[in-house]
Amino acid sequence: MYSIPTLEVTHKPNAIAVLTSGGDSPGMNPAIRGVVRAALNQDIRVVGIHKGYSGLITGDFEEMNSASVTNIVQRGGTLLKSDRCLAFKDPKVRKLGAEILADNQIDALVVIGGDGSLTGAHLLCRETGIPVIGLPGTIDNDIYGTEDTIGFDTAVNTALDAIDKIRDTALSHESLFLVEVMGRNSGFIATHVGIACGAEMIVVPEYEVKVDTICYQLAHNRQTGQGSSGIIVVAEGPIPGLTYSLAHQLEANGQAPKVCILGHIQRGGSPSGHDRVLASCLGASAVDYLCAGISDIMVGVQNGAICATPLAEVIAHKKALDPVLFQRALLLHK
Ligand code: ADP
Ligand code: F6P
Repeated sequence: MYSIPTLEVTHKPNAIAVLTSGGDSPGMNPAIRGVVRAALNQDIRVVGIHKGYSGLITGDFEEMNSASVTNIVQRGGTLLKSDRCLAFKDPKVRKLGAEILADNQIDALVVIGGDGSLTGAHLLCRETGIPVIGLPGTIDNDIYGTEDTIGFDTAVNTALDAIDKIRDTALSHESLFLVEVMGRNSGFIATHVGIACGAEMIVVPEYEVKVDTICYQLAHNRQTGQGSSGIIVVAEGPIPGLTYSLAHQLEANGQAPKVCILGHIQRGGSPSGHDRVLASCLGASAVDYLCAGISDIMVGVQNGAICATPLAEVIAHKKALDPVLFQRALLLHK
């Protein structure tokens, strides 16, 4: 359970807008609900922006009431829809976004998304003065300033559900599987999934692993009676599908791997209980911070406590995969 800071209401906005941006993640809906319900509890008007920054710059808005977020806490995806809006990288377009907010009497914004979305949020706030709060919404868990992101837990469990099934057929046929999981350039999903599914090896972008090392590990498993089937969890890296090139290298070294790319199923599905609680608390806390006159921050969680980190700090750092955790993960397969 999270400890939640008590903040004094000193700068209550008249109207808060909320949007979801970038790759969607399971838990965005409970986060939206947290923002909407917490704001309405304070008699603040709430406006939902459709399709992320694309909807902001076209004024694609909807007035939200308590019923707007009924029956969404358990639903994957995002009620508000999401988008990637390259135009928002242009300061003139961000200025237009701020003007559209002002024209609609909206005086604060909550952005739920990954590092790109949080970059846009920070620039909008810094350049136009509109109070903006970011919430970490991504399955990748690659956001600095928070231990956990909305959707990570669900994505890990979705991947595990699939890999447990792959394990059955791998054992039956004594096959080796390379299972590619999402995570862009970070190995958080792969490491957690690898530990939890008992993978024979984990390949992540952060640490180089040689094909020889993988072959050695597989030979060692056979010699020690662990059988010749196996699961190697591979983080996708910069481009989905690179796992095929690892498979070719293994084939050249006498292995016969099969490749399974889990892909976008990891982004869907009903959010886990953990993600629902995290998202609800972060959504409601975003409103608390705005009402306390604090903005240009991301609300995240550290040591079990809801906390704020300046957006400038969040986007300036890359969250590192804990090397001790990764080494521990590898040791468990030996
Ligand atoms: P995520 O938020 O999941 O990391 P993206 O990196 O695709 O996903 O970013 C989502 C959106 O955030 C982009 O389409 C764009 O609208 C906005 N964004 C990303 N990077 C920047 C940037 N440098 N400046 C302003 N906006 C950005
Ligand atoms: O950032 C979330 C994420 O799901 C990454 O793990 C993945 O690399 C990327 O988005 C895929 O994005 P899309 O296929 O929607 O462009």
